[in-house]
Amino acid sequence: MNFLAIETSCDETAVAVFTERLEVFSSVIASQFDLHTRFGGVVPEVAARAHVQRLLPTLDEALKRANLTLADIGCIAVLNTPGLVGALLVGVSAAKMLALALDVPLVSANHIESHIFAARMAADRDIFPCVGLVVSGGHTSLFHCASALDFTLLGATIDDAAGEAFDKVAAILGLGFPGGPAVEKEAAVGNPKAHAFPRSFVHLDRLDFSFSGLKTAVLYALHGVGKAQGPLPGPGQRRADLAASFQAAVVDVLAVKCKQALRKTGLKRLAVGGGVAANKALRAALAAMALKEGAELFVPPLTLCTDNAAMAAVAVEKWRRQEWAPVDLDAEPTYQPRGGREKVQGRL
Ligand code: KG4
Ligand code: ZN
Repeated sequence: MNFLAIETSCDETAVAVFTERLEVFSSVIASQFDLHTRFGGVVPEVAARAHVQRLLPTLDEALKRANLTLADIGCIAVLNTPGLVGALLVGVSAAKMLALALDVPLVSANHIESHIFAARMAADRDIFPCVGLVVSGGHTSLFHCASALDFTLLGATIDDAAGEAFDKVAAILGLGFPGGPAVEKEAAVGNPKAHAFPRSFVHLDRLDFSFSGLKTAVLYALHGVGKAQGPLPGPGQRRADLAASFQAAVVDVLAVKCKQALRKTGLKRLAVGGGVAANKALRAALAAMALKEGAELFVPPLTLCTDNAAMAAVAVEKWRRQEWAPVDLDAEPTYQPRGGREKVQGRL
């Protein structure tokens, strides 16, 4: 049984072909990096228009690489939430049209749950129930994942997402867009202890995050306290130290909150997904923490961390439950986990 999945939630036009056994035949990503870089961030209208232009060629390429035609596809999957509504609508409309034309079921999937499912795909075995950490450009959230589709929120960022903080600090340091990989590269030659940046909420009994103060701390370390502007730092030790100290603060907070979530829930498995999960310092810190806690860590390979359509294979779980999407399926910009927010009891 072959699935064709479409992802257009932000700035990547992605199509993948996979089977109900989670064998991925193709996963094609048409990045819009070239279009947004001069704006220093994703422009929603530009993203939506580019999806319109790029979706059909991406779909053709995915089928070609899979060595299949549309006649071989038995189910269409689409990520319809969360994301930029205009961007999502392009994928949702195309998916509905394809399902109708081919007379096959349509299944909707969720971008956030898909990021965690990317870890499941790499694991080759079930990873649920687990604690799930989604760290992307739009989200930093911890979940109790009872199954691939049943998530309850344990905590989330109250301001910037971790990826957003990477992108903003990259802009502050003049490292370009997207910021995550650029900051990581710069941090590799810096001293993570050069600046004692804040680590919000680490000693508190809550599983939420806050990164906006950290971003301001980097700004003030660069230009002076209370000064939001100044010349961009050039290449050199100072810039590298700021990048490394910032990255260390984000990594520490994420590792501590994952540890707290494991202890509070009593779960012994941690799955991590989203663009920031590609960060090597974070992967190393989580691996060390999991080892100490006697927990298993599941992280996707780098290509499945950032946005892609292969992670939409979570739709296979919905297909098994026969949860078809209606013909009036809509694009939903915000995400509500099925289980709502969970009050977790227990010691940190
Ligand atoms: O999951 P993703 O591709 O898109 C969203 O769903 O948001 O995540 C993109 C985010 C961006 O903020 C990007 O800067 C960040 O992930 N990112 C990284 C790295 N690679 C991507 N952050 C830190 N280190 C990286 N290596
Ligand atoms: Zn994403």
